[in-house]
Amino acid sequence: MPQPQKGICAEPNLHALYLMFNVIDEQDDIIRSKLAQILNIFEHYDEEHYEAMISGVVAVGTNYWMELYPGGIPKELAPFPDMHCDDRHAPVVPSDLFIQIRADRADICHAIGVDVYELLKGHVELLEQVKGFRYLDGRDLTGFVDGTENPKGMHKLDVAIVGDEDPSYTGGSYIHIQRYRHNLDNWNQVPVEKQEQIMGRTKSDDVEFLSHKKARYAHTKRTSLKDDDGNSIEILRQSMPYGNMKVQGLFFVSCAKSSRPFTQMLESMIFGDETGTYDKILDFTTAETGAAYFAPSIDFIRKQGDMS
Ligand code: HEM
Repeated sequence: MPQPQKGICAEPNLHALYLMFNVIDEQDDIIRSKLAQILNIFEHYDEEHYEAMISGVVAVGTNYWMELYPGGIPKELAPFPDMHCDDRHAPVVPSDLFIQIRADRADICHAIGVDVYELLKGHVELLEQVKGFRYLDGRDLTGFVDGTENPKGMHKLDVAIVGDEDPSYTGGSYIHIQRYRHNLDNWNQVPVEKQEQIMGRTKSDDVEFLSHKKARYAHTKRTSLKDDDGNSIEILRQSMPYGNMKVQGLFFVSCAKSSRPFTQMLESMIFGDETGTYDKILDFTTAETGAAYFAPSIDFIRKQGDMS
């Protein structure tokens, strides 16, 4: 099987740097070659600083895919789903390239980011740069542990990596990102018992509520979905907190073998269930960006880069 990019199924890290670019160069062969060179940068740092647990992802935005790789398109690659209901929005802010750099050292993330930017400079416009960090024992800034129910071990591959169903793109992954900005002033005024109802889990020791004890509006109720055959609908979340003294939130990253699970979950959060009960977490956080990408296998990026 073509090798998936390391950052898709990587274990959580202490630091991240997320970079979003638009390409301004019309010479797509140059960009194809540069994307392959970014993989070399990741590998170089990984060899030099093995202990830093470096991983990276190079992903191509839906709108840019056909221009960059005109030979075909991953079956389910679609624009980020545009959704809004009352005051709940999922704004769409597309970009051509998404580069995720993660490591257990902030200096290494920075150094890789600088090298990537140096390589792409002159061909791209940097739209956004966000630094993610691990908070306490893997908590979101709301104080709740984030990532507990993520798929584990080999199951990560089943959930996040395209298999034989789309042979030209095996080893790739559909990526959705959203930068959420939390209203922590409001959240921190909510009593812990109520916060726990909203998440459907206990706060300090991260124990899941029994399903029948979860409120309809609980985040983990709205995102625990089953298909018509009763199988769980799953994504692999690689989100991390970000922020400064004024603005704080979650940089949400979903990786999946299909683009549908993320869309179904977001629909369930924003529009709610059959009674219209939406995810109450959305009363305390707002998505400010949203974009869809495909992260092809390492073999795909290298092959396309060589042909340039
Ligand atoms: C600011 C936004 C968000 C925050 C703070 C947040 C936080 C959390 C927390 C604390 C948990 C419980 C622990 C865990 O299993 O990870 C959780 C679970 C989960 N979240 Fe989110 N989340 C956010 C957005 C989203 C979005 C946009 C999606 C998908 C569209 C999503 C999908 C899930 C899923 C699938 C679970 C596991 C549910 C289960 O099986 O119990 N989350 N999230």
